[in-house]
Amino acid sequence: MIIREALRSAAERLELHYVSNSRLTAELLLAHCLSVEREYLYAHDDRALSDEEYQKLEELLYDRINGVPLQYIVGRQEFYGRYFRVSPAVLIPRPETEHIVEAVLEKRPGPGTRILDVGTGSGCIAVTLALEIPGARVFAGDISEPALQVAQENAAALGAPVAFVSMDFLDAISGEFEFIVSNPPYVRPGDIHRLQREVREHEPHVALFSPKDEMEVYRRLMAGAERLLIEGAHLLMEVGIGMDERVLELFGAGWEKLPTKTDLQGIPRTVIVRRKLL
Ligand SMILES: C[S@@+](CC[C@H](N)C(=O)[O-])C[C@H]1O[C@@H](n2cnc3c(N)ncnc32)[C@H](O)[C@@H]1O
Repeated sequence: MIIREALRSAAERLELHYVSNSRLTAELLLAHCLSVEREYLYAHDDRALSDEEYQKLEELLYDRINGVPLQYIVGRQEFYGRYFRVSPAVLIPRPETEHIVEAVLEKRPGPGTRILDVGTGSGCIAVTLALEIPGARVFAGDISEPALQVAQENAAALGAPVAFVSMDFLDAISGEFEFIVSNPPYVRPGDIHRLQREVREHEPHVALFSPKDEMEVYRRLMAGAERLLIEGAHLLMEVGIGMDERVLELFGAGWEKLPTKTDLQGIPRTVIVRRKLL
């Protein structure tokens, strides 16, 4: 079978199984099989696939039709203009999380700024900040050792100077920081049935679910940040839909509440608070 036909048939099968963006998915899967970029497929659309290549495409189609996220199959996801390696050990970086990066950059941090990323996953936030703020001192941690491994690989591959640490939120962390950032696990375990099948069945539950109620992770972030942030320093947290007001209510005296950033769909996403100047 030649590339053009393989793509048509793959896209039809994906569509039949209600996989979104069927044509694009077919192209990305085939490009991955052939270890080429998508553009190659158009320039060589009459090239024949070997039996081995065709078999590989069949396997990937099977996985995708059975709900494995495309990003885990091809092993990467773009975040803030760079590709990050992803595996089922880490959450797939989401576009809305880029607003945390933007919000930090808007504060114009300079060399020497100390930044801590809590629950780094693939390392997308920490690595991006380390690359966007030359000379920043970026630290990042996670409770999941397999996630930390992926984050370290991403930092090395992208040449980002990030110091990684194993952590249970901020419990055993010491030092002083100008920024603490986090996209914590904030889904209530009771809401598991509301998640898309792909997320529920394939993304790591430690990255999705708050251990107790969904406010617990923010209470823990606040308690640690009170100890670790210097005066005037910022804590930036991603929140789930409809959680922004309740998260802000946790922050009392000693904190200044800044406007929450909305994502591209207008959903309040990045809650920002600052340690008050005494
Ligand atoms: C929603 S994911 C965010 C990953 C990444 N920062 C991103 O935005 O794509 C939450 C991360 O927090 C980590 N995590 C869960 N519980 C934790 C804890 N008690 N202490 C530190 N990290 C934790 C998970 O392993 C996961 O990597």
